[in-house]
Amino acid sequence: MNYRHAYHAGNFADVLKHVVLAALLDALKAKPTPFAVIDTHAGSGCYALEGKEAQKTGEWREGVGRLLFPDVGPHAAAGGTLPPLLRRWLDGLLALPGNEHGLKLYPGSPLQAAIALREADSAQLCELHPEEAARLRELFHQDRRIHVHQRNGYEALGALLPPKEKRGLVLIDPPYEAQEAEYRLIEQALKAALVRWPTGIYAVWYPVKLRSQVQPFLRWLGHCGARRVLRAELLVHADDSPLRLNGSGMAILNAPWKLDDALREPLRALSRLLAQERPAEWRLDWLAEEGAAAPPPAPLPRSRARR
Ligand SMILES: C[S@@+](CC[C@H](N)C(=O)[O-])C[C@H]1O[C@@H](n2cnc3c(N)ncnc32)[C@H](O)[C@@H]1O
Repeated sequence: MNYRHAYHAGNFADVLKHVVLAALLDALKAKPTPFAVIDTHAGSGCYALEGKEAQKTGEWREGVGRLLFPDVGPHAAAGGTLPPLLRRWLDGLLALPGNEHGLKLYPGSPLQAAIALREADSAQLCELHPEEAARLRELFHQDRRIHVHQRNGYEALGALLPPKEKRGLVLIDPPYEAQEAEYRLIEQALKAALVRWPTGIYAVWYPVKLRSQVQPFLRWLGHCGARRVLRAELLVHADDSPLRLNGSGMAILNAPWKLDDALREPLRALSRLLAQERPAEWRLDWLAEEGAAAPPPAPLPRSRARR
């Protein structure tokens, strides 16, 4: 339990994760009936980009910081404009109280979800670390839609699923302190969760260091029983070093209709905006598709629609 998200908030991996989260929340809000968000690894909810942790790594500058000026520099977005989903997402961050004079606070997944929730929607937030959980509780103590649980998020799924709303999203965003063993924990949790709530949407963030480390998990997802599994991935370095975060992905089980269409242009723009020493690569493809045979267990093909 050494991981603190404050060092990494707003980095390139957070940008991908939270843009996908925004697209998922949009899809859920397309229907008027209430939905639930269950965040198994919630963090503290909000991060000061001028705080000592964020200043120490400066990671946010190569992440969300790059989106603040999309029309200047070598990474400029095409035409200098952001695709509508990215624009709305960024405007949402800048509208946060405290950000009137620029991006000082970066909201984590619980706060981004809370801002999107309507009156009848709800959120269940799990966070194991006592200090992070205390901050989370403080942040939401006046919001009756939001419930904070200081407990293991994987175990909590047994009690929280299915939610009373019968529709919604589970976000699984662990720190991977268990390294490759974390994937097996996620698989176990998803297997049990899909039995309890087969129609829920599940979004799992995963790091890409060495490609071979993540490949068994991606193959498992192709056969996990969820109807439609979409993978959205962004690599800012080659995926051949175990020592650094080369990129990250989001795997979305029971992905909403047209989620791939909603993410295509934002991912294309992010691959340009977040590129580092070489052009960034992105992938947006189906690991499992309704009615289709499961893909072979060979390395997965890259999306043809890249860059
Ligand atoms: C990557 S951070 C979460 C960031 C957050 N989802 C966001 O996007 O803003 C992972 C968090 O999981 C917490 N954590 C680690 N193991 C956990 C577990 N088994 N159950 C719940 N929380 C856990 C860590 O303390 C850390 O705050």
